[in-house]
Amino acid sequence: MAVRPPEDRLWWKQPLHRMEVIWISIAFLWGLVMFFTMIVWHITGKQNLSNEAYRTDPQTYAAKAEAMAKAYKVREEGNTGIPVVHPPAGSDVYMFGRTWEWWPILELEKGQSYRLHLSSLDWLHGFSLQPVNINIEVHPDYDMVLTMTPTDAGEFTIVCNEFCGIGHHTMEGKIYVVDGAAGGAPAAPPATKAREE
Ligand code: CUA
Repeated sequence: MAVRPPEDRLWWKQPLHRMEVIWISIAFLWGLVMFFTMIVWHITGKQNLSNEAYRTDPQTYAAKAEAMAKAYKVREEGNTGIPVVHPPAGSDVYMFGRTWEWWPILELEKGQSYRLHLSSLDWLHGFSLQPVNINIEVHPDYDMVLTMTPTDAGEFTIVCNEFCGIGHHTMEGKIYVVDGAAGGAPAAPPATKAREE
């Protein structure tokens, strides 16, 4: 069967069928609804992405993250050699992505606000905070700042969700959220429960 043009060469000049007009209108109006929802949500929503960004470079940014890690390191994560850093509540905290890790591991306090800085030391990575599903693209040369207030204690994993090479699937990071300024340990399981039993 050969590919042939339609019999009627002027088919695009025929009037639209009523059903087609209706569906095109619905799709167009729905597109507008979603477009304006995006704007409204940006103003009223509570999970907006960074609207603060600065130019930086990998050396400058890494130096900031390393200075913070040196000052507030509380322990190392297992035998990975990656520092777990407990910065003061309300401070500027730095994390970077590079092939293939998120560095350092942060330990934050529940209910406190932090200015979380994100950047990449090489190329594009995707910061995806699980299980709360917050996603941010992380670019080199840009320092993106997010004001965040953890509302739940626990262990949160960061996965990379932008393909960044052979080790992409192994690129993980972590944020611990602890109750109060305890530091040094993730929120302990409730000890009282064991005593009651
Ligand atoms: Cu980093 Cu994928």
